[in-house]
Amino acid sequence: MRQSLIMGNWKMNGSRESAKSLSSAILAGLVENENATIAVCVPYVYLSDLQALTANSPVEIGAQNVADQASGAYTGEISSSMLQEFDCKYALVGHSERRSYYGDTDASVAARFCEAQKNGVIPVLCIGETLAEREQGDTFNVVNTQLDAVIAVAGIAALANAVIAYEPVWAIGTGVTASDDQAQEVHKAIRARIASKDQAIADNMQILYGGSMKAANAKGLLSMPDIDGGLIGGASLDAESFLAIYHSV
Ligand code: 13P
Repeated sequence: MRQSLIMGNWKMNGSRESAKSLSSAILAGLVENENATIAVCVPYVYLSDLQALTANSPVEIGAQNVADQASGAYTGEISSSMLQEFDCKYALVGHSERRSYYGDTDASVAARFCEAQKNGVIPVLCIGETLAEREQGDTFNVVNTQLDAVIAVAGIAALANAVIAYEPVWAIGTGVTASDDQAQEVHKAIRARIASKDQAIADNMQILYGGSMKAANAKGLLSMPDIDGGLIGGASLDAESFLAIYHSV
C-alpha cells in the first residue's frame, strides 16, 4: 500500500514573517493522518526557519530546486549537500516553471535528480504536457520523454528513492484542474512505463498530481487508484486549505 504525500510548493511567495506564520498555522491545525505524509517546499532562504519550526513535527521540508553540480564556481546555485544541512527531505526537480522560464532541460533535470540523491535528498521529478501538446495528442509522448530522460541517466533503480509529480502545465495556476479521469489516465500510463522496466518500483512509486488542486477537488483526485498525493501551489499558501487537503486523504 503506497502512502500518500501531500506537498505544498510555495513558489516565490511571501516574506520571512509570512513563511513563519503560515508554517505555525499549519502546525497548529494539523491532525496527524496516518494515511499521508505532509511536506512543504519553501524558498531556500526560509529553510533555516522552517527547519527549526518543523523539528519534531510531522511536517517535512523541501526545496524547490537543487543544483546539477556538487560544488564549485556555480554562482547562484544551491547544492544538495547544503540542502541536507537544513534537514531538507525533498527537492523539486524539473518543475515546468523552471523548464519554461529558466531553461531547465531534460539533461539538466536528470543531473539535478542525481545530485539530490547523492546527499539523500529525495528528488520530486515534475513532468507534464502543455495545452498545445495535449491538443496535438502528444501527452503520453511528452511525459514518457521527460521520464525516460531521467531513467537513462540515473537508472531505473534510482526511482526507488524518488517521487514523481504529474503536473499538466495547462492546469498550473489556472484554476482549471485535470478531471479525475484525465489525471488518472496519465498517472496509470506513467506507472505502466516504469513497470515495463521494473514492476516492484512501479508498484511502490508515489505519483503526485499537481495543477489547481484545492480542498474542493482533492478528494476525487486522491481517490483515483494511481494518484498518490498532490503537489499544491496556490492552495498551499493558506493553512486551512492546505490542511483540508491533507486531512481529506
Ligand atoms: P497550483 O496549485 O497553484 O496550480 O500550482 C501547482 C504547482 O505548480 C505545484 O508545483
